[in-house]
Amino acid sequence: MPQTWDPERYRANAGFVAALGAPVVELLAPVPGERILDLGCGDGTLTAKLASLGCDVLGVDASAAQVQAARALGLQARVADGERLDFDTEFDAVFTNATLHWLKDHDAAVDGAWRALKPGGRFVGECGGAGCVALIRAALGRGLAKRGLDIDSVNPWNFSTAEAFGARLRNRGFTVEYAEVFPRPTPLPGDVTAWLETFAENFMKGIPGEERAGFLAEVQEDLKPDLCDVAGKWTADYTRLRFRAVKPLGAAD
Ligand code: BEZ
Repeated sequence: MPQTWDPERYRANAGFVAALGAPVVELLAPVPGERILDLGCGDGTLTAKLASLGCDVLGVDASAAQVQAARALGLQARVADGERLDFDTEFDAVFTNATLHWLKDHDAAVDGAWRALKPGGRFVGECGGAGCVALIRAALGRGLAKRGLDIDSVNPWNFSTAEAFGARLRNRGFTVEYAEVFPRPTPLPGDVTAWLETFAENFMKGIPGEERAGFLAEVQEDLKPDLCDVAGKWTADYTRLRFRAVKPLGAAD
C-alpha cells in the first residue's frame, strides 16, 4: 500500500504545504524568463506561483493524479521519479518544496538536480528535517508496537540533518550557500487523524482495514496532550531543512 495522493483530499488537508512555501520561493529569488524545474510539484500550487512570476516552469511529481491536477491549472507537468531525474543541463534553477523527505536516496536526488542544472544554476528547497514530526512518529511507533508491528519497516520518511544534506551537496560539487534545520510548529486545518490519513498511509500497511479507524483514534488520543490545545486546535511538530546551493560556473558535468 504505497502512499497515494488524492488532489482533493490534499487540497483540504494539506493546503498549508504550499501556503507555507512562500519563504522558499523568496530564497529561490526567481527571475522572469528563467527555466525552472519544480521537483515534487504536487497539485501545482507553487508551480503556478513561479509561472505567475514570469518563469518558464516544468513541474514533475511521482503522482500521476497530482500531475493531472497541475496540468488542469494549465501548467507544464509530467510524472517523474525524484531519484531518477534524467534532465541534462536544461534549467536555471531546481526548486523543491516538501518533497525530499519522501525520497530514501538523497544522493540520487542531489545528482539529478546537479545534472538538470546549467552551470551557475541553483538548487533551492525545503523539506522535513531531522526531528520532524518526532512526537507523531513516536505515537505511531507505540501504536504499531502494541500490535507487534515494527515502525522502521513501514516508515517512508527521510528526515536529514543540515550537516548530512550539506555534505551530500558539496560532495556532488555544489557550493552550499545555506543549509539549516529549524523547528516550524505547523497548525493543522483539522485534527491529527485527517493529517495521518493524508500523509501517513504507509504506517497502516500491516493493519487490517477494519482496524485502521481504531488505530488512528488511539494515536490521536496519545498525541492529544502534546499537540492539541484547549480550544481543540492541532499543531504538528514539523521541522524544516532549508537550503540553497549553486552549481559553479565552469562545472564540468
Ligand atoms: C513535512 O512536510 O515535513 C512532512 C510531510 C509529511 C509527513 C511528514 C512531514
